[in-house]
Formats: sequence, C-alpha cells, structure tokens
Amino acid sequence: MKDFKTLFSVIIIISYYLEYGEGQKILSIKDFILKTNHTIIDYSQAFHEAWKGLCEDETPNGSALVIRKNETYTLQPLIFRGPCVSSKIHIQIDGKLEGPRKPIYWKNTEKKSWLGFRDVEGLVINGSGVLNPHGEAWWKSVSHSKRPTTISFESCTDIIYNGLTQINSPKNHISIYGCTNATLSNLDISAPEDSPNTDGINICLSHKIQILDSSIQTGDDCVAITGGRGGSSDINITGVACGPGHGISIGSLGKDDETDDIVENVIVRSCSFTGTQNGARIKTWQGGQGLAKNILYENITLIDAGYPIIINQHYFDKSNYLKYLLGI
Ligand SMILES: *[C@@H]1O[C@H](CO)[C@@H](O)[C@H](O)[C@H]1NC(C)=O
Ligand SMILES: *[C@@H]1O[C@H](CO)[C@@H](O)[C@H](O)[C@H]1NC(C)=O
Ligand SMILES: *[C@@H]1O[C@H](CO)[C@@H](O)[C@H](O)[C@H]1NC(C)=O
Ligand SMILES: *[C@@H]1O[C@H](CO)[C@@H](O)[C@H](O)[C@H]1NC(C)=O
Ligand SMILES: *[C@@H]1O[C@H](CO)[C@@H](O)[C@H](O)[C@H]1NC(C)=O
Ligand SMILES: *[C@@H]1O[C@H](CO)[C@@H](O)[C@H](O)[C@H]1NC(C)=O
Ligand SMILES: *[C@@H]1O[C@H](CO)[C@@H](O)[C@H](O)[C@H]1NC(C)=O
Repeated sequence: MKDFKTLFSVIIIISYYLEYGEGQKILSIKDFILKTNHTIIDYSQAFHEAWKGLCEDETPNGSALVIRKNETYTLQPLIFRGPCVSSKIHIQIDGKLEGPRKPIYWKNTEKKSWLGFRDVEGLVINGSGVLNPHGEAWWKSVSHSKRPTTISFESCTDIIYNGLTQINSPKNHISIYGCTNATLSNLDISAPEDSPNTDGINICLSHKIQILDSSIQTGDDCVAITGGRGGSSDINITGVACGPGHGISIGSLGKDDETDDIVENVIVRSCSFTGTQNGARIKTWQGGQGLAKNILYENITLIDAGYPIIINQHYFDKSNYLKYLLGI
C-alpha cells in the first residue's frame, strides 16, 4: 500500500513537467490576486501582474502561468507587452477566460483586441481551455470597425498557440500581424454562420506561419491572408476543417488602393470545406496593386461549398458598400 502511494506521486510529478514545460516555475493567478486586491472581481489587474512575473523572469527555464480546469476569470481588454527578459514564456489555459457580458461593461474599448500580445518572443500558449469574450452581444449593436478581435499577436516571433477553444468573437477570432514563425494547432473556433465579420484567423504582414489540425466554423473567412505593407510569405495551412464559413482566402488584397499588397508561398493542404460559401478563394480590390504568387491548394475536400474555387479581381465587401457610396 505504501509503495503504491509513492509510485502514484511520482507519476503526478512527471505528468506535470510534461504538461507545463520542463523545469518551469509554476505561477497561479491566485498568487497575484492576493498581492493586488482581496476584493477584486475583475481579474485583469491580477493578469497584468502575472504577465510581469512571466516576462521579467530571469531564470533560464522561465515560468508557466497555469489556469486550471476549475478556474474561470472575467477579463477586461489587456495588452501583454514585450520585449521580455525571459525567452521561454508559457501560459497554460485549461480553464475559461471570459469577456464582460455586454459591450457597455467593457473598459478600454479603444483597444483593438481583447487579449493582445505585442513584441513577445518564445511564447507558448497551450491547453484545453476556452476563450469566450461573448461577442454575440456586439454583433448587432456595434459596427464592425469598433469591435475587438479576441486574441492578437503583433510583432511576435517563435509563437506556439495550441489546443484552445474559441467561441463567439466580437470580430475576427485571431489576428497575426507582423509576426515571424508561429504555429497554431488543434484549435476549435466557432461562431454562428450568420455572425458578421467573425473571421477565424487573419494573417497580415507575417512570415513562416503554420495553421494545423484545427476546426473553424464561423460567419466569415476561416482563414484570410493579406500582405499589408511588406507582404506575407511561407504560410502552411494543413488539416483545417472549415465550415460554415467563407473559405480559406488570400485577400482581400489591394483595399484602399494599396500598392504593395503581396502574398506568396502559401500551401493549403488536406483541408475540408463543408457547407461553406466558398472554398479556395483569392480576392483583390479594384484599384489596388500587389501580387498573389505561388499559392497551392492540394488534397482539398469540398462538400456543399457554394463557390469551390473563386478568384475575384473586383471584390466588394458589402458591409462597406454604403461607406463607399458616401465616400467615407
Ligand atoms: C501542450 O500540452 C499538451 C498536453 O496537454 C502536450 O502534449 C503538448 O506537448 C503541449 N505543447 C506545448 C507546445 O507545450
Ligand atoms: C531547467 O529545466 C531542466 C529540465 O529541462 C532542469 O533539469 C533544470 O534543473 C531546470 N533549471 C532550473 C534552474 O530550474
Ligand atoms: C480593491 O477593489 C475594490 C473593488 O474594485 C475597490 O473598491 C478598492 O478601492 C480596491 N482597493 C485597492 C487597495 O486597490
Ligand atoms: C481547483 O483544483 C485544484 C486541484 O486541482 C485545487 O487545489 C483548487 O483549490 C481548485 N480551485 C478552485 C477555484 O476550486
Ligand atoms: C520557431 O519557433 C519554435 C517555437 O518557439 C522554435 O522551436 C523554432 O526553433 C523556431 N524556428 C526557427 C527557424 O527559428
Ligand atoms: C506544412 O506542415 C505540415 C505539418 O507540419 C508538414 O508536414 C509539411 O511539410 C509543411 N509543408 C511545407 C511546405 O512547409
Ligand atoms: C487528404 O486530406 C484528408 C483530410 O481532409 C486526410 O484525411 C488525408 O490523409 C489526406 N490525404 C493525403 C494523401 O494527404
């Protein structure tokens, strides 16, 4: 009996190490709540403090912030800024992070994303948890240019984002902007078919991005890749099940008469489109300039897809039509 207990505890310790990054110090949000404010109900400040703990860790293995299955936190928009001292930052999310239930309860609404990571290198976000900012409350009442993205990575390098479920983003679910070397995998993203501008993943001005083995059900593009000023290249999308949604799209390119919107070296492999408006799609605006080069869609399954392959060089986003007519 005694021997059995010893063996059991050894197994637990080993599984911990495997799950949360080898040799990392484990941090919990609760530690930071006590430090900041006992009566706190908005956990944003605690997350802000925890981020400092992760980012400023000088030990070679860095730290892991762990949000366990039984933990749920409501958060206001937050920006997690680098550059960091630590080059090994791990955030394990097995619990739930939620946004305030109605837009009027959101503070800092000028922030373009709910959870924003900027200038961070070597970040791992992993886990079986859920990000739910309750975007459904935004869709009808707030115009899309004023709605936040759920999670964004801006000017980040060497990023791993794995395993999470994302529900009902106010706007696009994930934004990768100005990043190099990111792998997003095993994600489950969902919003209703009629939710407006709720793209799954937007990639802009980024290089060496992989999106693997994920399911995306939404009201707009499952993935959309644009160049921005500087271009996007080396994008690998493998094993994505899209639908409902508007497909996996290059573009729209050349919006607002851009002159150098370039996307090149894109491979979309072993993906399926089920009940989608489109499948393989390239869309460019009239008036803009740029290039979509070396784009390969391979081993694609299309089931009930409206336009399985569509290349549109005169794209017009209906939600912008009125603005266009009014010249604003
Ligand atoms: C993410 O966690 C799973 C176990 O939950 C583990 O198998 C995997 O290696 C982890 N990935 C990273 C990048 O930490
Ligand atoms: C760092 O992690 C390694 C395992 O990868 C471990 O052997 C080492 O003791 C850790 N270092 C510290 C300072 O915790
Ligand atoms: C703690 O939070 C409560 C509720 O938000 C607030 O009223 C109080 O002023 C805070 N106290 C400190 C020391 O920040
Ligand atoms: C969550 O579960 C852990 C054990 O896995 C326990 O120590 C902790 O107190 C629980 N937290 C809450 C908020 O129930
Ligand atoms: C890309 O990022 C991953 C994860 O941090 C890292 O293991 C890998 O070495 C990086 N690749 C390059 C070419 O830097
Ligand atoms: C894309 O990623 C898959 C899965 O990691 C890999 O097997 C494949 O070689 C990659 N393709 C390219 C062109 O990088
Ligand atoms: C083609 O894609 C399907 C998923 O849609 C996958 O199960 C299958 O293994 C892929 N075949 C090849 C040859 O890559």
